[in-house]
Amino acid sequence: MRPTQAAFPATRLRRTRQSAAVRALVQENSLSVGDLIWPVFLRDGEDVVEPVPSMPGVNRLSVDRVVQAAREAHALGIPAICLFPYTDPSKKTADCAEAWNPDNLSNTATRAIKDAVPDIAIMTDVALDPYNSMGHDGFVVDGKIINDETVEALVKQALSQARAGADIIGPSDMMDGRIGAMRSALESEGFKDVMLLSYAAKYASAFYGPFRDAVGASGALKGDKTTYQMNPANSDEALRLIERDLAEGADMVMVKPGMPYLDICRRVKDAFGAPTFAYQVSGEYAMIAGAAQNGWIDGDKAMMESLMCFKRAGCDGVLSYFAPQVARLLNA
Ligand code: PBG
Repeated sequence: MRPTQAAFPATRLRRTRQSAAVRALVQENSLSVGDLIWPVFLRDGEDVVEPVPSMPGVNRLSVDRVVQAAREAHALGIPAICLFPYTDPSKKTADCAEAWNPDNLSNTATRAIKDAVPDIAIMTDVALDPYNSMGHDGFVVDGKIINDETVEALVKQALSQARAGADIIGPSDMMDGRIGAMRSALESEGFKDVMLLSYAAKYASAFYGPFRDAVGASGALKGDKTTYQMNPANSDEALRLIERDLAEGADMVMVKPGMPYLDICRRVKDAFGAPTFAYQVSGEYAMIAGAAQNGWIDGDKAMMESLMCFKRAGCDGVLSYFAPQVARLLNA
């Protein structure tokens, strides 16, 4: 129990808010560049910087440009970059074979970044949706997303990413049993240090809309993802998922989306004490960047506040499209 506080005027809580100096002393949480993972969108071609219309300020980058972006991110002190490929519709098939092609866009970019900027950590995404003509994260048979066959394919995808040099593999598919399957495949292939950051508590969210535009999945997706992603009404279920994924060998866990789910971040951190991340997703980015563009909010302040709130909620780090902008402000 909390000791009782002295009554006013012995206690004046404004005393410790009176100046910047005192506010700094009593500040409970802090945000640093080391907390950031920067998600970037890839596309093929050379010297291409293609704006994503629903995410003002975010571009799809060709491999040469993403190498440059990784170099800039590393110079800013950002520890990790996370790759999401825009896949040409002609490479999307029902068997999703492009997902484990050693020379697909994600693997090509991984090798190029490793070569040029070896000290930045590379995170990759495991899920079939960029490669699936049905737009789902798993195989679709008779209108159902089938679990076990999907997991076998995800293991192939994860191994191809590890072979390309990925440091952190991020399964975002929400199939059952995939963390254990990937962990044992990685161990038996000798990838003992490859980390798994599980998108363990990933909700079926409307806030992913701009991302699906960015990776070209919006048109392909038939139906919704509610049979594998979580119901936004649930909280205990998130703890069961996190507990399961940690038990299967996840090194780090994620809650996604971020800002509407800060209560989940706090519960997860308190319950497990594991490295906990949140994903400030595309729709959250679009709301802040779009409102700022219209002059409705102060974009820099809203951005910094939103990221600090993840730290207050117990997160160790945040995936955010704002990462380079945040880093520049923190370094200023
Ligand atoms: C797909 C995936 C999604 C995101 C990351 N990986 C979208 C989805 O599940 O439909 C969303 C990221 C964002 O909105 O920024 N496996």
